[in-house]
Amino acid sequence: MSGLLDGKVAIITGGSKGIGFGIAERFCKEGAQIIICSRNDSELSKAASRLGCESHQLDVSDSRVVRSMAVWFSKEHGKLDILVNNAGLIRPGTIKSTTEEDWDLQIDVNLKGPFLMSNAFLPHMNEGSSILNIASTVGLRAMRGAVAYCASKGGVVNLTRAMALDLAGKIRVNCICPAVVDTPMIAERLSTGRVTRQDFDEVQPIGRMGKPEEIAAMALHLCGPESEWTTGSIITVDGGQTAG
Ligand SMILES: NC(=O)c1ccc[n+]([C@@H]2O[C@H](COP(=O)([O-])OP(=O)(O)OC[C@H]3O[C@@H](n4cnc5c(N)ncnc54)[C@H](OP(=O)(O)O)[C@@H]3O)[C@@H](O)[C@H]2O)c1
Repeated sequence: MSGLLDGKVAIITGGSKGIGFGIAERFCKEGAQIIICSRNDSELSKAASRLGCESHQLDVSDSRVVRSMAVWFSKEHGKLDILVNNAGLIRPGTIKSTTEEDWDLQIDVNLKGPFLMSNAFLPHMNEGSSILNIASTVGLRAMRGAVAYCASKGGVVNLTRAMALDLAGKIRVNCICPAVVDTPMIAERLSTGRVTRQDFDEVQPIGRMGKPEEIAAMALHLCGPESEWTTGSIITVDGGQTAG
């Protein structure tokens, strides 16, 4: 690897598995000092020891906990160079079947989480640093049976643009919209038996799901030194899904 993130300090939410773990792994290889965050402490500790990095248990939807992590961070590390708002979850449901509880959970974690993290960590970010939000292709076009998830990801797309305007010239803010990526989130949906691996593969014209490292490669580009004129960009990494 080429040390593109040498000397950079990065926080990656939802870094214990899936896409977040893939981004963490790549950023470590590129020389960044990283801190991964998620709720389940034992999974988080195992991931941190595999990566040889720091971890901090955190629920991104809890403003009190997020603020206290920011205080801890500034004492321990000083300044932050990269914030990746990746933590997210899905609770499928139509407009008819979605409960208020499932609505609140997905909006709180997927949309309020990136707001709370960015709001709390901004005062500790270096000029020239960057924020990356992980939305979804369903933030750009809907899918059936996931109203709250689609709404939350659409929100993340436009939150990215609004933040990029407010922070232009100081901090870059970009967004990746992946299609289906083979992660524990997808394994959980496969375990219901309502959808098959082949169904998920065929959603992409390329004919297979993405891999976390394929999202990580774009994350590296957007958070690294080779995209200094890129902000407010919403990039699909989707095996061609949104081409049609
Ligand atoms: N996989 C896909 O097909 C796909 C496609 C498009 C977009 N995405 C998006 O990509 C991101 C990562 O997805 P993934 O597939 O890697 O999911 P995953 O395998 O389920 O991993 C999700 C990560 O987020 C953490 N997390 C969940 N809720 C959290 C909370 N309230 N506070 C802090 N951490 C939390 C999880 O750990 P804990 O549960 O221990 O907290 C875990 O580390 C999500 O935003 C997802 O919506 C995924």
